[in-house]
Amino acid sequence: MNHLVIIGFMGSGKSVFSSMLSRSFDLPVFSTDETILMQMQMPISKIFEVFGEDFFRKEEAKTFEKILQLNNPHIIDCGGGFGAYQEVEQLGRVIFLDLEFEGILERMSEQERVKRPLFASLSKARELFIQRREIYLRRAQIVLKQSDENALMEIQKEITQIS
Ligand code: S3P
Repeated sequence: MNHLVIIGFMGSGKSVFSSMLSRSFDLPVFSTDETILMQMQMPISKIFEVFGEDFFRKEEAKTFEKILQLNNPHIIDCGGGFGAYQEVEQLGRVIFLDLEFEGILERMSEQERVKRPLFASLSKARELFIQRREIYLRRAQIVLKQSDENALMEIQKEITQIS
């Protein structure tokens, strides 16, 4: 299935960008975090706290299988780990929002940070960012340096050129 798959580190603006793409291409959004949260009926931070990260990663793997069953194209809004650990390139065209770590910190409110257990330690989050970036770059077909209106225009151009 040729989905548009949005990957990137926590706080890089994937969800807002997915909504923008959804309006622009008139495609529904499938959010991996939202799917797990609805399934478990609890926030992601609680899932990590009660069941641990490995459990969450297994839920992500199940969610990957669900996406394989979709029979119409979606914008796939991937959690930060989903985009790194699942073979997202199998799902469609992968777009990586490649923002700087400092930029991410600036745009993230305290409240947003608390929602993300892997941001509990800033130095660990920075390390993870460096490791993950290499993986995101390998998986992506399109790399964007921002997640705003300009980025949307780039995608519109790119997609209309290809299709
Ligand atoms: C995670 C990213 C989060 C969420 C969970 C783990 C990660 O999603 O899936 O907290 O491993 O990077 P966002 O990227 O939407 O914050």
